[in-house]
Amino acid sequence: MTDLLTLLSPTLHSDSTVFVTGGATGINLGIAETFARTGAKVSICGRTEAKLASAAEHLRQFGADVLHTVADVRDHDALAAALARTCEAFGPVTTVIAGAAGNFNAPAEKISANGFRTVIDIDLLGSFNTARAAFEQLQRTSGSIVFVSAGQAYCCTPNQAHAGAAKAGIENLAKNLALEWGRYGIRANTIVPGPIAATEGLDRLSAEVGSEEWRRAVPLGRFGTTTDIGVMAAVLASPLGNYITGSQVIVDGGFGLAGFGMLHRAWLELEPQGVTS
Ligand code: COA
Repeated sequence: MTDLLTLLSPTLHSDSTVFVTGGATGINLGIAETFARTGAKVSICGRTEAKLASAAEHLRQFGADVLHTVADVRDHDALAAALARTCEAFGPVTTVIAGAAGNFNAPAEKISANGFRTVIDIDLLGSFNTARAAFEQLQRTSGSIVFVSAGQAYCCTPNQAHAGAAKAGIENLAKNLALEWGRYGIRANTIVPGPIAATEGLDRLSAEVGSEEWRRAVPLGRFGTTTDIGVMAAVLASPLGNYITGSQVIVDGGFGLAGFGMLHRAWLELEPQGVTS
């Protein structure tokens, strides 16, 4: 397969500073790498110092200036401090990737109130915190925010009531921010990744049904790569995307088109068959 990054100019983001939450692993690291390889200065944050340090080393091999800061997206002040550090080192951010997420597979009746709140706090509140903490810098650069959403936002998925509610909230938040912050030249969009190979998210979610069953349910017949998502984020955040705001960009090989029926069928076999009178 063509290395998509050879198709993007290595200077596409040479005037950009990108801040990526959850940037140490998975899709978010793939996005950070795409920006690093297209000239951006890259700042990543996450919860675990060791993972961040190793990701920063990885990103530096592409010649990028990289900063990493420990910050939990549930903590607005920690995010504000990480963004202030980024501004000091690299100038105000031009692009924010709100990617940090937490998830697990569980039927709604087995999720405690705290379990539900934990996912809402990380995904939805964390996304708001990120956008809010970055607002002043984004206003200065007429920058853009890309939220990492998920198919659960619009497609009901068994064992995912918590994540679906959180991601649907993110979709609405992105549209509202696009509406309100357009006057400052700030754009806000979401990307909906499909099943992306070699990510913790896919491992966790496909555990019950099996990853081969998931792969067969993708019309394009393959899992996505973190570069598939990174390239879309890099284009959306660049001048190439300068009239795109409030959009939901689905990058899933067609996975969501037929709904997640295979997951529902498997779930019906595993779980009690609904309410009996
Ligand atoms: N099923 C049901 N509830 C679960 C659960 C599961 N598999 N995993 C965690 N929870 C509940 C816990 O029981 C707890 O609720 P309780 O206090 O009522 O018992 C609540 O969620 C918080 O769990 P905790 O482990 O304390 O939270 P955390 O902040 O340390 O971790 C998670 C957050 C739960 C989302 C954890 O899975 C995580 O850190 N994930 C990050 C990585 C990730 O999810 N990657 C995939 C992204 S798609």
